[in-house]
Amino acid sequence: MRVLSGVQPSGTLHIGNFFGAIRQFVALQSEHECYYFLADMHALTTVQDAGRMRSLVRELAAGYLALGLDPARSVLYRQSDLPEIPELTWYLSTVTSMGLLQRCHSFKDKVAQGVVPNHGLFAYPVLMAADILIVRSDLVPVGKDQKQHLEVTRDIAASFHAVYGREIFTLPEPLIQDDVAVVPGIDGLKMSKSYGNTIDIFGPEKPIRKRIMSLVTDSTPVEDPKPREGSALYQLLKIFAPVEERPWVEGAFDNGGVGYGEMKKKLFEYFLATFGAARSRYDELMADPAEVDRILLAGAARARETVAPLMDDVRRAVGIR
Ligand code: TYM
Repeated sequence: MRVLSGVQPSGTLHIGNFFGAIRQFVALQSEHECYYFLADMHALTTVQDAGRMRSLVRELAAGYLALGLDPARSVLYRQSDLPEIPELTWYLSTVTSMGLLQRCHSFKDKVAQGVVPNHGLFAYPVLMAADILIVRSDLVPVGKDQKQHLEVTRDIAASFHAVYGREIFTLPEPLIQDDVAVVPGIDGLKMSKSYGNTIDIFGPEKPIRKRIMSLVTDSTPVEDPKPREGSALYQLLKIFAPVEERPWVEGAFDNGGVGYGEMKKKLFEYFLATFGAARSRYDELMADPAEVDRILLAGAARARETVAPLMDDVRRAVGIR
């Protein structure tokens, strides 16, 4: 099967990105034909500073590689290196109804947060549909927040087929891991770059430790059992704890006697055990930008070969070229 997914370089990689998406990207590499890209054109809807954009792209590329995406097994590329993607976006735009985009939660959420929406933000799901449809992907591993965008992608493909009377695209299925579909942030809301509640994977240890120690908890005294329901700390411990440590986590909540501070220290230990090796690798990759660039350009060349026949079909279907 063909797998595709992407991450926006709109901030530093956080553990929600990893458990919700990138961990699945890595696992799928051994069995499927995988395409993973950096959605830099999407990130332009929020990051509008060239220097920052360049460094975020570099960091995300190093993060992908450090976390185990392997250019020998997967095609890794930058969205902006495939001019076919904005071309397809336009063809798809002309068969997409305004109402479909107006119903999108992520757009409505951003507006509710006070973001003054630009047209790019409104049209975001069409660009995403182009990313997915252009490689004829069957499966798209994502967190739950992207589920509606996958439905929109299928609707747009179906609409193109209805308008032009030809079945060109593969209708993709989302692949969502239920237990980590929504990783909570330090305030208990969905972890998100735009909410400022993330625990980052890379970068200096001290601020990460501080973030973990500032996870919001209730005021249950140390000696009492702690409520699991609605506890972001509990959810994160469950996600991180190795199998043999899970009884300790359950016991710490159910039996009492363990304070939240101690649990947070444990969470930080699990964090370092999970990401220690990737964090060292990341520092090496950040010191070798030429190698990272080479990998992305080679990936883009492979991706362009894949998309060429589909783009020919699409152009023929719409009567252009
Ligand atoms: P982005 O960059 O916001 O996030 C990247 C991936 O991380 C997942 N994720 C989470 N999963 C669980 N819990 C969380 N708190 C959490 N936060 C983020 C996201 O669901 C996503 O899978 N629109 C996409 C990028 C994109 C894309 C695509 C994805 C552009 N084109 C084509 C798939 C296919 C986005 O903004 O993801």
